[in-house]
Amino acid sequence: TVYKVGYLIGSLAKGSINRKLAKALVNLAPDELSMAEIPFKDLPLYSYDYDADFPPPAKAFKEALAGIEAVLFVTPEYNRSIPGGLKNAIDWASRPYGHNSFTRKPSTVIGTSPGSIGTALAQQSLRGVLGFCNSPQMNSIEAYIQFKPGLITDEGEVTELRTEEFLRDYMIQFHNFITRVYTALA
Ligand code: FNR
Repeated sequence: TVYKVGYLIGSLAKGSINRKLAKALVNLAPDELSMAEIPFKDLPLYSYDYDADFPPPAKAFKEALAGIEAVLFVTPEYNRSIPGGLKNAIDWASRPYGHNSFTRKPSTVIGTSPGSIGTALAQQSLRGVLGFCNSPQMNSIEAYIQFKPGLITDEGEVTELRTEEFLRDYMIQFHNFITRVYTALA
């Protein structure tokens, strides 16, 4: 079985190191995972006033989420939490009430930062949000990637063998987790 995985990149920056990490993960993913980015930068700021009639970017975002079987979050840490844009996207995804796009959809969280804790607090914060959104999360393995200049190229090539092997294993573990979730739910 090939599973469709949508990935959300928490950073909107052109030179984002998390975008480089996402490219590396796509390159290293096993063939059983079909990877596609789900962009969210065109979403307005969410309000429940929109619940009766979502604007086109929000409809497109919800449709993209409906078409995937698992979600990969690749996010930076901003002020010890996730960036506001990503939280906004998750709020859109969770609504209208009763149409939460993350319910029972397996997810995993990873990120990179120049700091030595490698986005640990942002990930912890995101895990709380995803828990409330009823997404089964891969709890192990965890990945806290400290970014050093040149660690991953713009094309997503990992220049350190140990990190490359770790990230390849991370994607294999995610595939195993997705399989377990769908087998259990079947
Ligand atoms: C940061 N940065 C940062 N790093 C970190 O490890 N913990 C943090 O809490 C923060 N806080 C923070 C807030 C804001 C507003 C910015 C712009 C940056 C530094 C951050 O890790 C660095 O800019 C990375 O390059 C961000 O990842 P992207 O956006 O390049 O993928």
